[in-house]
Amino acid sequence: NRTYRIAVIAGDGIGTEVMSEGLKVLGRAAERFGFRLETQEFDFASAEYWTKHGRMLPEDWFETLSGFDAIYFGAVGWPDVVPDHISLWGSLLQFRRGFDQYVNLRPVKLLPGVPGPLRGREPGDIDFLVVRENTEGEYSSIGGKMFEGTDRETVVQETVMTRTGIDRILRFAYEQAQRRGGRLTSATKSNGISITMPYWDERVAEMGESFPEIEVDKFHIDILAAQFVLHPDWFDVVVASNLFGDILSDLGPACTGTIGVAPSANINPTGELPSLFEPVHGSAPDIAGQGIANPVGQIWAGAMMLDFLGEAQAAEAVTTAFETVLESGETMTPDLGGSARCEELGTAIAQAVDAA
Ligand code: NAD
Ligand code: IPM
Ligand code: MN
Repeated sequence: NRTYRIAVIAGDGIGTEVMSEGLKVLGRAAERFGFRLETQEFDFASAEYWTKHGRMLPEDWFETLSGFDAIYFGAVGWPDVVPDHISLWGSLLQFRRGFDQYVNLRPVKLLPGVPGPLRGREPGDIDFLVVRENTEGEYSSIGGKMFEGTDRETVVQETVMTRTGIDRILRFAYEQAQRRGGRLTSATKSNGISITMPYWDERVAEMGESFPEIEVDKFHIDILAAQFVLHPDWFDVVVASNLFGDILSDLGPACTGTIGVAPSANINPTGELPSLFEPVHGSAPDIAGQGIANPVGQIWAGAMMLDFLGEAQAAEAVTTAFETVLESGETMTPDLGGSARCEELGTAIAQAVDAA
């Protein structure tokens, strides 16, 4: 009997709203495909926990979460209560680093039935994978403030790129390109960022020698952002540093109509520590509490989690379910141009799992 232990952390804002729908759909998939999801919910990594405890996580978070097969995460951040850098560095970024989830996989796909903002694009034209470095790079806590309170007040924050850190994400990206048919795009900025990005380019070229059949191109991040809009059909696997990958993985889904559908898999490929699955989007304070968030990003992230756990058939069924429901266009949340509620879309997808 297949049983998976899942840590559930809903977080803040719409994180809690989309999480209910994610669990609803995964529960249905488990029933249909004959496995058990043993979920345990945690209230940490939220502004409410912060208000109560003065910290984002309990001291033993690492031990508590280590034993789970995966972490299913909503969204964290409530800047009116706790500054974003404190809440994020105190929770999500700790998970990514502490569990060495160095791969962040963010698929971008124009889905049938979802109206995109780009003229003349059809499903199939936009179907690529952003492979984001997830543990180092521009996200660092090295730096500081100098000459505070004077005219010379200066802030410095270092970018840290290690050979091991770059090579492992590049290898993963090249392998993904192999699996998907042979093209890799690297995001760079080696014209302006004169030390770290030329090094990134060098590592891309050297890793390429081990993958002679992969066609590699590179774009500076500025024009790459433009080409996402102008020629999204050019891309298959896009590998990027932590910050560039962050930006591209909001831009890509926006080109497919809404960031509300985008999933994110934070993976530790060794499997020795848990991986974390979440939507790309945040807690959306502007719509939180209204029950109108799009739950598809959370649900799609759930499908990626099932796939990671080895339940490929169930993952496929969940994917087919949300694709079918979106294609029918009957139950669309406001970001998709409809007036359905989060819960209605979640329920429709859960029902579609039975038919998928
Ligand atoms: P956001 O992704 O929360 O929202 C951006 C815009 O997209 C908003 O207008 C929002 O209403 C809309 N949106 C997002 N998800 C949606 C959905 N599922 N359905 C419909 N509309 C959706 O980004 P933000 O406003 O920059 O950040 C808000 C908070 O979330 C901040 O505290 C930020 O730090 C945090 N954040 C957390 C994560 C995470 O937990 N992984 C990711 C991004 C931002
Ligand atoms: C994401 C988010 C986070 C990131 C923030 C909230 C720290 O934007 O998961 O894309 O930058 O990684
Ligand atoms: Mn982001």
